[in-house]
Amino acid sequence: MTPRASACAKIILLGEHAVVYGFPAVAVPVRSLRATAEYDAGPPPLRIEAPDIGLRAVLEDLPAENPLGFCVRHTLDVLHIPLSGGRLRVTSDIPVASGMGSGASVSTAVVRALAAAAGKTVDAEQVSAIVYEVERIHHGTPSGVDNTVIAYEQPVYFVRGKDPDILAAGGSMLFLIADSGVRSATRDAVAGVRERRNKDPERYDGIFQSIGELTDAGRACLEAGDRRMLGRAMFESQGLLDAIGVGAPGLTRLVDAARNAGAWGAKLSGAGLGGNVIALVKPESAEPAEAALRAAGAAAVFRTVLEHGNHPPPQTKSPHGT
Ligand code: MEV
Repeated sequence: MTPRASACAKIILLGEHAVVYGFPAVAVPVRSLRATAEYDAGPPPLRIEAPDIGLRAVLEDLPAENPLGFCVRHTLDVLHIPLSGGRLRVTSDIPVASGMGSGASVSTAVVRALAAAAGKTVDAEQVSAIVYEVERIHHGTPSGVDNTVIAYEQPVYFVRGKDPDILAAGGSMLFLIADSGVRSATRDAVAGVRERRNKDPERYDGIFQSIGELTDAGRACLEAGDRRMLGRAMFESQGLLDAIGVGAPGLTRLVDAARNAGAWGAKLSGAGLGGNVIALVKPESAEPAEAALRAAGAAAVFRTVLEHGNHPPPQTKSPHGT
């Protein structure tokens, strides 16, 4: 059987950017959007195919800084897998550079597929640690929230350098994810915030502190199932993200459209400057809110539901699981 594995996308509910500076973030998996990796055994050399990004190469020919090549080499190394031949094929339906963790998701699928090919069991913590190293190539100074939420495939409360708290929602919550259609590299957004913070540390640290307080309040709302107050924390957090310079006119239009369509809350999610806006909506107003987001310029709108209670764990333990 061909070892095949997949990984989810993610959205950050609260805390992006501040999380890089040691404040908490809350992130949830988006299970309906996935990256997939398949390994077919064969003679050397080991070939890598990623048709979505037009990549077809022999592993040895990929430069050291190529994230996919690094991910494969690092995984083989850390998990002691002596694989020198065959074909690894990677596909993804997660929009790239849009704040949904496509890079971390591809890496997670690759780690799981290679582990499965070698008949090894890897848990979420191991996968997350390997993917974090790949994220450093993508993003420079990642906090680790993306690799954590994707590898655990659970809602998490994350603080840099600590084990994540797995969260259980106190009520089911429906989110619309509106893609602004503007691609934005996390690395650039994070570097821009760092540059501005270096010029005015007091102001920026004060804003990060406020984002952290909203994140703590939002966690409590999520666990209590209080959508109204969670939504309020999202709107407030958008104001603070604008204040640190990661907003964009297209994102503001989407947040305003969600607000006018009666959403409980809306904000950019991820690095900002482009990418996605997430909106927490009442089930009965999901249709009009989706139409309003499209009318306000959304290139695509996805729905995701955070189910009430605990979530089943990801299938990282099965050698042929997806
Ligand atoms: C990106 O999904 C989230 C940021 O906070 C960066 C990070 O945490 O590494 C912007």
